[in-house]
Amino acid sequence: MESVIASPSAPVVAQPGSPLVDLSSDDHAIPSYLDVHYWWAYVHPNAVRVFERQWLASAILWGNYARLRDAALIDLGTRLSGRTLQVACVYGDLTTRLCRRVAAGGGQLDIVDVLPVQLNNLRKKLPADAPARMLKMDSSDLRLPDATYDRAIMFFLLHEQPESYRRRTISELLRVVKPGGQIVIVDYSRPRWWNPIRYVLGPVLAALEPFAHDLWRDDITAWMPKPWSERPFDHTSIFGGVYQKIVITR
Ligand SMILES: C[S@@+](CC[C@H](N)C(=O)[O-])C[C@H]1O[C@@H](n2cnc3c(N)ncnc32)[C@H](O)[C@@H]1O
Repeated sequence: MESVIASPSAPVVAQPGSPLVDLSSDDHAIPSYLDVHYWWAYVHPNAVRVFERQWLASAILWGNYARLRDAALIDLGTRLSGRTLQVACVYGDLTTRLCRRVAAGGGQLDIVDVLPVQLNNLRKKLPADAPARMLKMDSSDLRLPDATYDRAIMFFLLHEQPESYRRRTISELLRVVKPGGQIVIVDYSRPRWWNPIRYVLGPVLAALEPFAHDLWRDDITAWMPKPWSERPFDHTSIFGGVYQKIVITR
């Protein structure tokens, strides 16, 4: 599908067949790490056909999809007014559930992703009257004004990004969320030494997800700008440390 250029105040466009809102600086720019390391998961046209299965998304997370999804949503609340941002599409039903909460609160949801194939797939999962916009742009260069959103959610994106992208993505999130707004991030972390999953997952991540071990080595604060890197925030370890959730109040 063709995408169009529009301003951030463009109308809500979740309906099937409606154009994507393209706010990227370069229409064709796919970050090289996606093309090189994640073509099979997101970029290839067959990727959606293979991976858009709830059971598969859950299997990849060792049966923890629902637990992680709900952990991410619980901090945001059940009726979300104002503006909510989701950075990067996710296979499975995270966004449909988030969108229900946004609709219940009379709010608006913006979902950004750099791949039109992923935004188009997500749009098909949302009801036609969903209060949601699909914005094609890079998380490390959000074409959105400062302090626009009441809250933001990011689910398993950071471990896929090389460090320079990861740093810029976190800075952009902190920039576009309003002071007092919440940012919820769920991703991998270093499993506890006693967790047997650690010894299987380590080599799998090393083979398939070359930047994921950064999240085993360092806390997410390592890629935050000051003063955020020095502030305490809510941290929850999940499934014996395999996953983490952090909640930042902007
Ligand atoms: C959120 S991550 C991983 C989600 C998780 N593995 C799942 O689907 O259950 C996958 C998404 O991030 C998107 N993505 C990766 N790098 C991006 C970037 N720099 N800007 C925007 N979206 C990006 C990919 O296009 C893909 O749709």
